[in-house]
Formats: sequence, C-alpha cells, structure tokens
Amino acid sequence: MKRVLITAGANGIGLVMARAFQGAGYRVWVTDVDAAMISTLPPGIRGSHVDAASEAGMATLFAEIAEAWGGLDVLCANAGIKGPTAAIEDMPLEGWHQCLGVNLDGAMLAAKFAARLMKPAKSGVMIFTSSTSGLYGTPYRAPYVAAKWGVIGLMKTVAMELGPFGIRANAICPGSVNGPRIDRVIEAEAAAKGMTPDAVRQGYAAGTALKRLTDPEDVAGMALFLASDAARMISGQALAVDGMTYNVDP
Ligand SMILES: NC(=O)c1ccc[n+]([C@@H]2O[C@H](COP(=O)([O-])OP(=O)(O)OC[C@H]3O[C@@H](n4cnc5c(N)ncnc54)[C@H](O)[C@@H]3O)[C@@H](O)[C@H]2O)c1
Repeated sequence: MKRVLITAGANGIGLVMARAFQGAGYRVWVTDVDAAMISTLPPGIRGSHVDAASEAGMATLFAEIAEAWGGLDVLCANAGIKGPTAAIEDMPLEGWHQCLGVNLDGAMLAAKFAARLMKPAKSGVMIFTSSTSGLYGTPYRAPYVAAKWGVIGLMKTVAMELGPFGIRANAICPGSVNGPRIDRVIEAEAAAKGMTPDAVRQGYAAGTALKRLTDPEDVAGMALFLASDAARMISGQALAVDGMTYNVDP
C-alpha cells in the first residue's frame, strides 16, 4: 500500500484529501494542531498533533513515520492559514510572520524531511497546496499572497533538485473553496471593503468562467491524480483548480 502524509489534515481540504487517499487504498497519516478534530478522524487514518511550522515537531513526526512505515510515497504539504486581512499600510508584522510561518516555513519543513525519506528510495511525489492567490494576487491579503507565491517557488526548486532522484513536485492552486474557512475570509474582506459578505461571495463566483466556488473534493481529485502514475511526466507545475479565475477583484 502506498503511504501518504497530509499536513493540516484534520479539517477542510486536508481532511477531504485524507478520505480520498484512504478510499484509493493508501495508508494515510495526517498532522494538525487541532487536537479535538484529530481525535475524530475516520477509522484507519492516523493522526499526530504537530505544528507544521515547528522544525522540532516535524523532525519527530518524520522519525515516527520512518519507524512505522519505513518510507513515504506521497507528501501533501497542505498546512496554511489565511493571515491578516488589512491594507498594506496597516499590515501587522506579527501577523505577516505568523502567516509566512505556517504557509511557507511549513511547506519547506515538510519538503525537507520528506526528501530525506524519498531520496534514498529514488521515488516519491510532493504536492504543495498553494492558491490562486499564488498565481495572481489578492487585495488586502499581502502575507497570504506572498506566502503562496513562495510555495510555488519552493515547489519549482524542489522539483528541479529532486527530479533526478525520481521525485516529482507540483502545487495545486485552489480558487475559493466552499467551507468554513472561505466564510471567514469573505467576512473579513467584506468588513475591510465595507461590503456585505453575500456581495463578496457573488463577486468571487462571478470572477470565474464556471461561475461557482470550488469544492474540496475538486482539490482532492487533483491531488490523487498528481500522486498517480497517470501524472508521471508532470512535475514543477502550479495547477489551478478554480473554475478558471479571470477577474480577481470584480
Ligand atoms: N479554503 C480555501 O478557499 C482555499 C483556497 C486556496 C488555498 N487554500 C489552502 O488550502 C489549504 C487548506 O485550507 P482549508 O481551507 O482546508 O483550511 P481550514 O482552515 O479549513 O483547515 C486548516 C487546517 O489547518 C490546521 N492548521 C492550522 N495551522 C496549522 C499548523 N501550524 N500546523 C498544522 N495544522 C495547522 C487547522 O487546525 C485546520 O485543521 C491551506 O494551505 C490554504 O491556504 C484554501
């Protein structure tokens, strides 16, 4: 059975990915900082209470994975927080650091420790969760945007470094994904822009060709595809799963 680690896998997109990989026959291990949700993971999915931005925590986790599984086939570096919503002139440095810490340090640490398991095996797949914010930009979300562009740069470098060792790396760039997180993002943006949340939500959908928000299952489907042999010649790519965003600030 193939083995997958998913960071931030106790809620939202990560949890849907975990269920999808389990359904496809993978052994699944997730990490999260939400202890309560870890204790409610579906049977068969292993969970650890680890902060993706903590080098010590991730080192311990990967030592446990090496011990229990002897290697890792797929990494989904998915941990991310939305960070502050604020005009650039008001951007709090602490919130900036916190956002880059989880989204970017977390992705780097996952790649660092996964590479140590995958390189000797001369195979593996790394899948990073970026965002359409990592392809375009999102007003009032400078820390998140900077982190998600950074994730794509990290992914491209990792793909070049590890390709000769049979390891592929790609990034998924979801658009606005239905769920509680996007509700929080929309509320914050509505407050910052003096709009109603409904107007912001309609604007998000209107800015895509398919005129709707993305479902977490759409993102999980892309992760499963990228992990599969059907994607064996796909590496170094940032792939949007967003219904084709073409107007990011309608
Ligand atoms: N929801 C969207 O619209 C959307 C769009 C594009 C990209 N993304 C990205 O997808 C990923 C998942 O987002 P989501 O919508 O599922 O978020 P979510 O808020 O629903 O879930 C995030 C999970 O991350 C966990 N988490 C937070 N900080 C952590 C840390 N330091 N270490 C480990 N776990 C941590 C939380 O406990 C939670 O379980 C993120 O990287 C996010 O930036 C989300």
